[in-house]
Amino acid sequence: MARLELPQTSADLYHSFRPNIVDPESFEVVTGRGNPPLADAVGKLLDRNITQPCTDFADGETAVQVEPNLRGRELFVLQSMTPRPNDRIQEMVLIADAASRGDARQTSAIVPYFAYARQDRKTRSREPIGVAAVANQFYGAGYGRIFTVDIHSEQAEGAFPRAWDNVLADNVLIPALEAEGLEDPVVLAPDMGSTKRADKLRAKLGKDADLAIVHKRRDVDKHDHSNAVAMIGDVRNRDVVINDDMISTGGTIYDAAMLAKQNGARKVYASAAHGLFVPKNGITLPERVLTPDSPIDKLFVTDSIEQGELVTNNPERIQVVSIAPVIAVAILCYLTRDSIGKRLIEFNSSSSDQK
Ligand code: R5P
Repeated sequence: MARLELPQTSADLYHSFRPNIVDPESFEVVTGRGNPPLADAVGKLLDRNITQPCTDFADGETAVQVEPNLRGRELFVLQSMTPRPNDRIQEMVLIADAASRGDARQTSAIVPYFAYARQDRKTRSREPIGVAAVANQFYGAGYGRIFTVDIHSEQAEGAFPRAWDNVLADNVLIPALEAEGLEDPVVLAPDMGSTKRADKLRAKLGKDADLAIVHKRRDVDKHDHSNAVAMIGDVRNRDVVINDDMISTGGTIYDAAMLAKQNGARKVYASAAHGLFVPKNGITLPERVLTPDSPIDKLFVTDSIEQGELVTNNPERIQVVSIAPVIAVAILCYLTRDSIGKRLIEFNSSSSDQK
């Protein structure tokens, strides 16, 4: 199956589009305070300085002043909505408002990690649909597009009345996984909700890969609490790749890894687009992965969320793969009216996944 070729340098990036098609004066990129290293990486690829316009007032309100002139120009606001997602969302809203008042031509939200995405439906009476509420705020603030990586459920796109493009992170995770020399791989969906995503990864890994599924039971009365109760599929003496959109406390992926090992898996690789790594009982998933009895042999995440040294300094057990080239290509697609579907999605999807 075809593999996505991603540019690793600014020259590669611009060369992959028609030379000179992008007028550097036609656009600006700014970032909130969600993930400065990712903004630097994207800035290097786009060959421009990405400025950060947010500061705080003494009472905790966010202050914004966008430095570059925006009149008649496209503005891309790059922001992963963590840490403190509510603050990151407010930064995005204020930047869009500043852009409208600064006469920007169009403002796009480039949000590798979109918070509230798991609140995608009512599970009980009198609950909000969080992702719709945030998307509505973005529309009201003036965003004309949203770009995300591995949004929890693609139906979220329906909550925004303009273009919402979502790209899977497996495009950058697969080469890293394949470099491990997977033998007889099985992709394990850590819950029913991730089955479709896991099956897409299985198809991209090749015809010999199989699918297995964990049945997870969630306690709706307790946030961040679930139990893996059973597994469908055969993982005995096979390399298992667990894939999820995000890791929060790590309970879901760790339990799935335990089940895989108990069922005879040879090696277990855990992979996710977004590594939030929230502590559970005082310990984060990366800390658990680094213990000698961990059922996870290696963990892979993208840099959609800024990581500390524990994650970035243990490449034998934890690998961080950059999503920056995907974001840079998406921005150039918007600027050149090229197809994100053709460049970043369709080349290895079934026709039903195309957009
Ligand atoms: C939920 O269905 C998501 O796809 C993830 O499986 C979940 O958010 C992971 O949470 P945790 O790491 O806390 O188990």
